[in-house]
Amino acid sequence: MKKTIVITGASDGIGKEAARQLHALGHQVIAIGHSPDKTKLVAQELGVHTYTVDFAKLDDVRKLATNLRKDFLKIDVLANNAGGIFGNRELTVDGHEKTMQVNHLAHFLLTNLLMDILIKNNASIINTSSIANRVLSDFDINDLELTKKYSPQIAYGNAKLENILFTKELHNRFHNSGITTAAFHPGNVASNFASDTTSLMKYAYHTPIKKMFLISVSKGAETLVWLADKSGDLDWKSGEYYIKKKISNKVDEKSLEPSIQKSLWDQSAQFVHLK
Ligand SMILES: NC(=O)c1ccc[n+]([C@@H]2O[C@H](COP(=O)([O-])OP(=O)(O)OC[C@H]3O[C@@H](n4cnc5c(N)ncnc54)[C@H](OP(=O)(O)O)[C@@H]3O)[C@@H](O)[C@H]2O)c1
Repeated sequence: MKKTIVITGASDGIGKEAARQLHALGHQVIAIGHSPDKTKLVAQELGVHTYTVDFAKLDDVRKLATNLRKDFLKIDVLANNAGGIFGNRELTVDGHEKTMQVNHLAHFLLTNLLMDILIKNNASIINTSSIANRVLSDFDINDLELTKKYSPQIAYGNAKLENILFTKELHNRFHNSGITTAAFHPGNVASNFASDTTSLMKYAYHTPIKKMFLISVSKGAETLVWLADKSGDLDWKSGEYYIKKKISNKVDEKSLEPSIQKSLWDQSAQFVHLK
């Protein structure tokens, strides 16, 4: 069945490649990019609808949701994929730690602003997380803004853990209304990832040693494409975290704690002034 699939972070890397592959499978892809120039290239290459947005500005997210609601009657899959690791601790125009906002909060808001359409279509919500949720995080539910302990790696690991907590709480709240949701790790992928960071990860991803441990973007997009293509077909289980198309328990144990799942949701709702 042809699906309408919204992908964020579709102007580069894994999201762009997933957009290509899902378009080739015959789905209607809506590509959300960040850089206007890169997004234009995706529109030209695939001939799909595109929008640009800066997730470091929550008003951009609100405008995006309004435009999607105006332009499309249905959405079958929302792939919350945009993200990255950044530099020194920085606050967005909305006053939130940037890594948390770009990777988690913006997607939390977008998802909630589209929720009635998503429910109406028994949609799937796919969140691009990372093994960083376990290996880099130092998560404190009482310090989401990282005022006490900050490094680019910790901020990134925590944000990727938030992607899993968000997935679990989405499942808790909306699975009975027909929503299916999953988080996944794409593999360590030779994309444009870590190009804006002051972390040493920049060297791992952007020097010749990368060939030793990174997979191609085409391979890195496989799990996202599979989750989106098979959504609603009961090929995968809602609420779970996937690696290489299989459920994985390699998650930080805090992601399994219902009180933390709920608290992240409640605090995120306050941060974005969700009614
Ligand atoms: N690469 C890896 O090894 C790896 C491993 C695990 C998880 N991941 C996750 O995979 C996802 C995709 O990353 P990637 O590897 O494909 O990296 P990438 O090539 O850098 O692509 C990142 C995408 O996110 C967009 N983006 C960045 N900042 C944004 C902002 N402020 N507002 C809106 N969009 C923004 C980028 O837009 P522009 O390019 O237009 O700025 C781009 O489309 C991320 O969530 C990342 O955390 C990656």
